[in-house]
Amino acid sequence: MQPAAFACEVLASGWCVCPGFISPARTGVLREVAQRAWGQGRFHRAGIGRGSTVGVREDIRGDSILWLDEYESTAVHEFLATDIAALQQAFNAAGYLGLHEFEGQFAVYPPGARYARHLDRFRDHDARVISLVLYLNADWNSADGGELCLYPGADTVTVLPATGTLVGFLSAEVPHEVRPARRERFSLSGWFRRRA
Ligand code: OGA
Ligand code: MN
Repeated sequence: MQPAAFACEVLASGWCVCPGFISPARTGVLREVAQRAWGQGRFHRAGIGRGSTVGVREDIRGDSILWLDEYESTAVHEFLATDIAALQQAFNAAGYLGLHEFEGQFAVYPPGARYARHLDRFRDHDARVISLVLYLNADWNSADGGELCLYPGADTVTVLPATGTLVGFLSAEVPHEVRPARRERFSLSGWFRRRA
């Protein structure tokens, strides 16, 4: 699937799931970067809320994250400069959205960790418009759990976090959750933002 088709589908339906959006070779490089940084202890526990109300609540959100702009990596830099740049351009062309930056992170869910149902745009003044998640897990199958469940309208869309699968959805409109996994679950996720 090309970035333009992916962006059109997200804007038309509110969400899009594309297996194999990024090749196994390229996701493999990103996975190695994430695993190395995780091994170096560079991730920190993800919080919920914003500003002064931020706090860690493992029962609601059990992952650890590393913001991409806090880690020097050629592979990540190339991914942002090519794939993410192409997607940003495609979204802006399809919807005149005025997206001007991408805020990205690696996330790891240790076995048993979850993220309860939530929206990615916390408040009206939040600038997140489009949510993206790229999965980095080789040989993932349904017995491993860790599904992303999207709840657009009355439907449930269930996504296995298999390597190369890209998910996009409208940050303010699609509630979603991460089910507990039986293996470490790696992803690269982020948000296209507009000026607040
Ligand atoms: C998030 C999130 C989904 C996933 O980080 O806000 O919902 O599948 N992630 O990792
Ligand atoms: Mn989310």
